[in-house]
Amino acid sequence: MRITSGLKYAAILVFIFSLCGKITAQEEVLSIIPIPSQYEVKEGEFQFDEKTTFYVDTSNTEVYKIAEGLQEKLREVSGMMIPIQPLSDFNERTLYAVAFQLDSLSDLGNEGYTLEVNTKQITLNAKQPAGLFYGVQSLIQLLPPEIVKKEIIRAFDWVVPAVSITDVPKYAWRGLHLDTGRHVSSIAFIKEYLDNMAMHKLNTFHWHLTEDQGWRLEIKKYPLLTEVGAFRDSTLVGHYGTGKYDGKRYGGFYTQEEAKEIVAYAKNLYITVVPEIEMPGHSTAAVAAYPELGVTGKTVRPSTTWGVFPDILNVENSTFSFMEDVLTEVIDIFPSEFIHIGGDEAPKDQWEQSPRVQSQIDSLGLKDAHELQSYFITRVEQFLNSKGRQIIGWDEILEGGLAPNAAVMSWRGEEGGIAAAKSGHHVVMSPGSHLYFDHAQGDLQQEPLNIGGYLPLDKVYSYKPTPEVLTAEEGNYIMGAQANLWTEYLPTDASREYMVFPRISALSEVVWSGEEHKDWESFKKRLPEQLIRYEYQGINYAKTIYNIEINAKCDKKHKNFSVSLHKQWDGVIYFTVDGSNPTAKSKLYSIPLKLKPGTTVKTGLFKEGKLQGVITSETLETPKS
Ligand code: ACM
Repeated sequence: MRITSGLKYAAILVFIFSLCGKITAQEEVLSIIPIPSQYEVKEGEFQFDEKTTFYVDTSNTEVYKIAEGLQEKLREVSGMMIPIQPLSDFNERTLYAVAFQLDSLSDLGNEGYTLEVNTKQITLNAKQPAGLFYGVQSLIQLLPPEIVKKEIIRAFDWVVPAVSITDVPKYAWRGLHLDTGRHVSSIAFIKEYLDNMAMHKLNTFHWHLTEDQGWRLEIKKYPLLTEVGAFRDSTLVGHYGTGKYDGKRYGGFYTQEEAKEIVAYAKNLYITVVPEIEMPGHSTAAVAAYPELGVTGKTVRPSTTWGVFPDILNVENSTFSFMEDVLTEVIDIFPSEFIHIGGDEAPKDQWEQSPRVQSQIDSLGLKDAHELQSYFITRVEQFLNSKGRQIIGWDEILEGGLAPNAAVMSWRGEEGGIAAAKSGHHVVMSPGSHLYFDHAQGDLQQEPLNIGGYLPLDKVYSYKPTPEVLTAEEGNYIMGAQANLWTEYLPTDASREYMVFPRISALSEVVWSGEEHKDWESFKKRLPEQLIRYEYQGINYAKTIYNIEINAKCDKKHKNFSVSLHKQWDGVIYFTVDGSNPTAKSKLYSIPLKLKPGTTVKTGLFKEGKLQGVITSETLETPKS
């Protein structure tokens, strides 16, 4: 018996009807996220089976490894072991062939590729191995979604629709960040994070390694950074301001060997790891380990709550020597061109109150504490530049003057990034408004505990990293964009996955497909299959898009409520007011409801008669005045 996937073809046909009901266009929706720059779905399909052979330049170990990766994925799920043969045995007439070809004359850049699938052959072409790697990611998504399972599914149609794809990324920096300062992620989790980044064609992992609440990277010259700085005595319970703490010691750190293991793992996935070492703020854990780095000389402990803390680094020569020693070890582990030096949220109170720091400001001929921060960052930049590296920092590094070669990561909106690009500095856009994945993706009351904010999927999707106010030349300084995952309220793997998925899918089209090729309506058609992949991978993705948000406004004068129901996703809203669970036979929502206090509204999103997410319920209670 042959089992065929419910979604047999990864290409889904969608018919668009004109007003008079005739078919005017037939749109082919590929199951690929991020959507390729150009594609055409053709007749027929290619079948992977015992006749299939891969053809590779066997002298190119990098390309060979990419082919082996696909071979292993297919073996894991089908039991098939597809042989790998020399590319010299392949030509246009070779049947049942999958060819991996490098073409030095290709004009698709270092990451672009073409993928041609017909009934007899699959050919992947790229200038560089990275392009072939991304071509394989697309090929995997063209297979039935069961391909991502980790168990063997026998007697299954491993088919790919005939397509012709040409695909080039819009942005060079396609990033995702992970804060391991507030909560530690295991090495296993980080590897899965990287796997998933690669599946979405992201290429930069920003690893936030030091924080007030914990210093997470082993530094051999300064063992107290991790002996003391990696452990806090307690952690805030619940939301900020509860005043409750769990009283449990919490911490952990990555050894240099582990960090190198992550760098090597990421390299195989064509991902660069950019480490972040925060300075001069967010440094309480460092000051806890070595009080002489601080301004007051007082002993502090790593922070047990969240926020911005006063214990920033001082500007003694010995502190710069410390930082240079730390960075010497950091650059030995991380080969990335960019080293992130933080620079955000460094309160200047201690600098302003310290006669010693004030006299340093005077003797350096600086105007104020902002210029001193600029001096700090510039000195660190000089050191890193002398080692052949570049710095990138949060947009506060613009205050007091930007270091000469620094790149800016714009998080407090886009203004910092715009100013930096206008003055000829490279920029990564990461505004809190669109790319902070720690923000809620729906109604706060329906979401798990989080830091707040409101960042639904469509808002991520709408983001355009290159601001329109920039000229074409200035726009060239926008290297790309990244989403940030701060983990104050994300203590577990499941909680982190919930915030990242499916917003990572939207991010991938923002940075890979770019504004020219992304299209929300098309994305909505492609996302359901991506969610099936997440499901098969066992990812705890958020289903928030299917929730209905209930907005109730009390009109005290008329003693009633005006209740509006909001949806994020396609479908219709049914509701009840008698306490029963809504079905597709309940009342259809169209305009705001007028309801009496005490009424319980229950509602859900339905598509083709089926409930999509969960039922949301609210009992209307008059607010006490
Ligand atoms: C930041 O979110 N403090 C960069």
